[in-house]
Amino acid sequence: MDLGLKEKVAIVMGGTSGVGLKTAEMLLQEGAKVAVCGRDHKRIDNAYQHLKNFAEPERIFTGSCDVTKENEVYEFISSAAETLGAVDILVNSAGRSVMGHFFDITDEQWTEQIQLKYFAIIYAVRAVHSYMAKSGGGRIININATLAKEPERHMVATAATRAGLLNLSKTLAHELAPDNILVNSVSLGLIRTDQWERRRMQNAPDADPDSWYTELAEKRKIPLGRVGESEEVASVIVFLSSNKASYVSGSTIEVAGGLGKAL
Ligand SMILES: NC(=O)c1ccc[n+]([C@@H]2O[C@H](COP(=O)([O-])OP(=O)(O)OC[C@H]3O[C@@H](n4cnc5c(N)ncnc54)[C@H](OP(=O)(O)O)[C@@H]3O)[C@@H](O)[C@H]2O)c1
Repeated sequence: MDLGLKEKVAIVMGGTSGVGLKTAEMLLQEGAKVAVCGRDHKRIDNAYQHLKNFAEPERIFTGSCDVTKENEVYEFISSAAETLGAVDILVNSAGRSVMGHFFDITDEQWTEQIQLKYFAIIYAVRAVHSYMAKSGGGRIININATLAKEPERHMVATAATRAGLLNLSKTLAHELAPDNILVNSVSLGLIRTDQWERRRMQNAPDADPDSWYTELAEKRKIPLGRVGESEEVASVIVFLSSNKASYVSGSTIEVAGGLGKAL
């Protein structure tokens, strides 16, 4: 099936690991050109080496950028656009969650979550808008979490800010529709990425990884009985980026193995 992604330019914010890196890999396999960023230089180098397995170096742009710093976001996106020739797709995947109940979360943690879930998206959308509008359209995919609709007490700051991002994504879908820019959300349940690997190493470094994830799926009562893989998220992002999703905007697709009961 031709997804129409050949020569399209995708920017993946937070593309040096996990869901973002897998998305970059799959977009390259579809013939797109891809730019990825993160903050850690070693992860950026590793990502570049990894992505070179899937495409010629000219189709890959990597850079250091903290998505919560407006000047860095503008610099990264304009350099990527200059090098790769356009901006057609933006995937906002950078971030991490913070665990903690209401009385445990500090102002700094609230601020970090607000920066990551609001301002990082605001800066990136502002930065890509003129490129997409000028070329006749684009796609924006915001990575979210099922927590946005089903808050959990032990993740209060992440859940509350995720809910706001879901709301913002809907408004953006309306606001940018006249420019033919389609905006959608992909809401994750539990996906096996570096984020979870860090938690596993912290809590049970000696446990067998597969058994640990199986127990986690049981504990969280995931209907499909397992934690998801990053390619299962990336394939949905690739679909939303493609010409096969040309009438999908303002939607949220859950990739969560059936987790959650919110409609
Ligand atoms: N995995 C899950 O179960 C799950 C569930 C719900 C939602 N999510 C969300 O899905 C997204 C992807 O998560 P993941 O599981 O793929 O995590 P991951 O493997 O830890 O990847 C996160 C990526 O974001 C980058 N990043 C983090 N903070 C950044 C910042 N301030 N500026 C620039 N880049 C930054 C990281 O690179 P650096 O650290 O080097 O900057 C890395 O490339 C996140 O928004 C996460 O909250 C994940």
